[in-house]
Amino acid sequence: MPTPSKKRKGSSPLAAIVLAAGKGTRMKTVRAKVLHRVCGRPMVYFPVKRALEAGADPVVVVVGHQGDEVEAALRAALPGAPLHFARQEKQLGTAHAVLAAKASLRGYRGPVVILSGDTPLLTTHTLASVVGARTGPQSLAFATMDLENPAGYGRVVHAPGKGPALIVEEKDATPEERQIREVNAGLYVADAEFLWTTLAQVDAKNAQREFYLTDLVALAADGPGAVAVRVSPLEAQGVNDLEDLSLAIRAMTRRIASALMKSGVTLEDPERFDADDGVEVGPDTIIEPSVRLRGTTRIGSGCVIGQGSILADTVVGDRVEMLPYCHLDRARVGDGCRVGPFSRLRPEASLAEGVHVGNFVELKKTSMGKRSKANHLAYLGDATIGADVNVGCGTITCNYDGEKKHPTRIGDGVFVGSDSILVAPISIGKGAYLAAGSTLTENVAAGALALGRARQVNKNGWARKRAAMKKSGKGT
Ligand code: UD1
Ligand code: CA
Repeated sequence: MPTPSKKRKGSSPLAAIVLAAGKGTRMKTVRAKVLHRVCGRPMVYFPVKRALEAGADPVVVVVGHQGDEVEAALRAALPGAPLHFARQEKQLGTAHAVLAAKASLRGYRGPVVILSGDTPLLTTHTLASVVGARTGPQSLAFATMDLENPAGYGRVVHAPGKGPALIVEEKDATPEERQIREVNAGLYVADAEFLWTTLAQVDAKNAQREFYLTDLVALAADGPGAVAVRVSPLEAQGVNDLEDLSLAIRAMTRRIASALMKSGVTLEDPERFDADDGVEVGPDTIIEPSVRLRGTTRIGSGCVIGQGSILADTVVGDRVEMLPYCHLDRARVGDGCRVGPFSRLRPEASLAEGVHVGNFVELKKTSMGKRSKANHLAYLGDATIGADVNVGCGTITCNYDGEKKHPTRIGDGVFVGSDSILVAPISIGKGAYLAAGSTLTENVAAGALALGRARQVNKNGWARKRAAMKKSGKGT
């Protein structure tokens, strides 16, 4: 077997198999089911992560449909984790899928936990409780749940006075069996040796002509014994179609929201809050309704994040006041900044401490030094802006000449008058003043005043003269 990557001192061995080869026909999408996203992660990430947290080493993921993408997504999300990937070229059923993992576990003796790639809500606690429920080293434990509407799930049939006798799939069930509301949750723990010898006996004589993993229960019941562990449907409900997916996303989001509230974050309306798995928010931060936090976003403490703002892979310091409807993507906002409403910070926008960025201001690959301000209507791209700079309303950095991007440098303390056009590459020295309405193509020295506009001409009395011309029929 693959050598466990970490020394599991004192703890008993555990291996995991995660089934993720199916297409997910009921999703009706080209994308394989387990790649659909739940809170920023492919669905299959969650059962794999939970297996790792329960101490499984290795975790063998059985892939098939879009297998390369599934493997790449998991390796990227869990670098360094003891993951193995086994191919199931043809998806002939869940038992067949488990057998595809056999070679990856060659020589391994001990318990194997089998999880479905389509049950993202399972918790490590529940997983551990099923692992611990086996009555003997040879027996099988599996999770069941009671559902109001058991349609689509395998029903658990009990032998009177004994334990579970078998699982019957809906398509093979009699009308009486279909009335059973205790269903198979798709989580099993069995000894490796039992698993391989028993799976060899499973055939495909059923309505779907598939090799059912659920046949293990009847085979264990006849032999070493099977035990059913009831778990909460909130955790074990599978995702089979896009409606199930939306419910799983909502449930996962609610968990993230609860954890944030427990750690001192105010969510004004947790039902109107979206966050990806892994986002961080500091205590005493207030999040207004309809905010969305994505990817690796981290927000400090004592901030207010205004209604409708969307932050992706963005780092926000402490005591930041973000007014409603801002969009930030891969940006950095320093302590004490004020941003918005309606600001757009694109990748590599970086604000030092105490910067103000106001409405309809767009920044791309642009840094602003301490206390600098761009309060209204500006586009600042590929610009390095110093401290204490005032960028007037309507300022534009012309960073693109149709072929290449060029930089703009603005020194500390510069005053950029309203409606300035800075044609890059251009450099403005410290403390310079740029007159309002200027189009600037030349560098400006420190402390200079730059005017780049036509001189104003006033023609006194012009309106009166025009009216007189019109009256006499000479003018238009
Ligand atoms: C399965 C169970 C059912 C249980 C339900 C719980 C069987 C026969 N049925 O049904 O009793 O109530 O899960 O959620 O096991 N997969 C493969 N290769 C295959 C087939 C499936 O890797 O050849 C993977 C899928 O990608 C999926 C998982 O196994 O992640 C479960 O398959 P799915 O088709 O969703 O099984 P269900 O019909 O839901
Ligand atoms: Ca399923």
